[in-house]
Formats: sequence, structure tokens, C-alpha cells
Amino acid sequence: MIRLDKALSHMGLGSRKEVKNYIRKGYIVVNGEVVYDDDFKINPDEDEIIIDGESFKYDEYVYIMLNKPAGVISATEDNRYETVVDLCSEYRKYNIFPVGRLDIDTEGLLILTNDGELAHKLLSPKYHVFKKYYTKFDGVFKEEYLKAFENGITIDDGYKCLPAKAEIISENECYIYIREGKFHQVKRMMQALGMEVTYLERIGFGKIELDKSLARGAHRPLTEEELNSLKEAFI
Ligand code: URA
Repeated sequence: MIRLDKALSHMGLGSRKEVKNYIRKGYIVVNGEVVYDDDFKINPDEDEIIIDGESFKYDEYVYIMLNKPAGVISATEDNRYETVVDLCSEYRKYNIFPVGRLDIDTEGLLILTNDGELAHKLLSPKYHVFKKYYTKFDGVFKEEYLKAFENGITIDDGYKCLPAKAEIISENECYIYIREGKFHQVKRMMQALGMEVTYLERIGFGKIELDKSLARGAHRPLTEEELNSLKEAFI
């Protein structure tokens, strides 16, 4: 059993003070009855919470999509730079962390959560979760490089990357799909073939696509559908 105000706040409906206010005003219905007492406790597995006619389920985990801007680092705290968790500050109390890292100059889709087990699976090459990147580059992308990506490119430290995929968009733009997350991996794969990445944006993570309506720097919770598609990636 957990306190109703705590559960509501955890669900992202407002601060503890705000949700207490909603409760006192009679906005919250639990199992068909209006609850006015902020001391009220619920069973998160069984009780149905209705707010403004809409049914909510308490979830101890939070899952967020952030459209990361350049200049922000993929960490929880830092003395010098703004972090991706700073951009989602109302969720800091849930101990969220980024699922993997994007370089400081890389933009786009980053998932933050406090679900360590899911994060671990999403990052494991074992589960083959592909990440899709859009890149601009200097140099010439020769047709034969498409095969090189499929065969596995050997990067500067001698590591042979797992099979990946590239799609040419134009003379200096392509999509790259990888299922690992080695340090600077896309940049180093392109470098190994004589190209220099000048811009990098992640636009897909498994079946989830970067929400184009999400402004750079903005975030939102994953929809239930998005979360299910992430979890389905390794059933
Ligand atoms: N590959 C890179 O080189 N940088 C990123 O941020 C992500 C993948």
C-alpha cells in the first residue's frame, strides 16, 4: 500500500503539494469513490484511479523521451555542463538516468528511466536493439561501403563492430543503424572509411522514433504503445 498523494506525484501529476490540493478539492476518484483524505492509501496493483474521467495506473517506473540538444551531456550530474537529467528536472526525484549516452554534440532521441533492468537489456548487444542515426559528413560515401557496414567495420582501436547498416540519403547525408554503443561509434565507423561526421542525430531506438513534434530540449513520457514496443524488442 502506498500513500495516494505519493503515487499521484510519482505518476507525474504534480508536486506533493499540488496533488494534495487536487485530493482535497475532490478531483480524485479511487474505485468509484471520491477521496478527500491525502493520507489515503492505495494498492497500486489493484486500485483504479480516475482523474477528470480518465483512468490512471500507478507505475513505480518512469520512462521519458528527450529530444537532446547539442551542448548537454548524457549524465545525471555535472559541475560544468548542463545534463540531460537537468532538462527533465521534475523527474529527478525518481532517480532517472539516460539509457546509454549520446556525445555532447549529438542531438535527438534519448530515453531516460529509473528502470535499471529494462535499460540494461536495451543496451545489451545480445538483444539486437537497433539505434538509427541521421548523419551529415564530409567525404565520399562509396556504394561498396554499404557492404562494409553489413560485414562489420573495424574501428581505430582494432575492434570489429557488429554488423550494421547504412542507407545513403544524398552526397553528404546517410542513415546508420547500429546495435552497440561503443564510445563515438558512428563517428569512428565513418572515420574508418575515410569520412568525417559533421552532424549526428539519433532518430530511432528499437521501434521508437524521435517524436518530431517534440522541440529540441523538450521531453515527454513515453506513451504506453511506445513502452510496449520497447519491451517487445526482447520477448
Ligand atoms: N555514435 C557516436 O559517434 N556518437 C554518439 O553520440 C552516438 C553514436
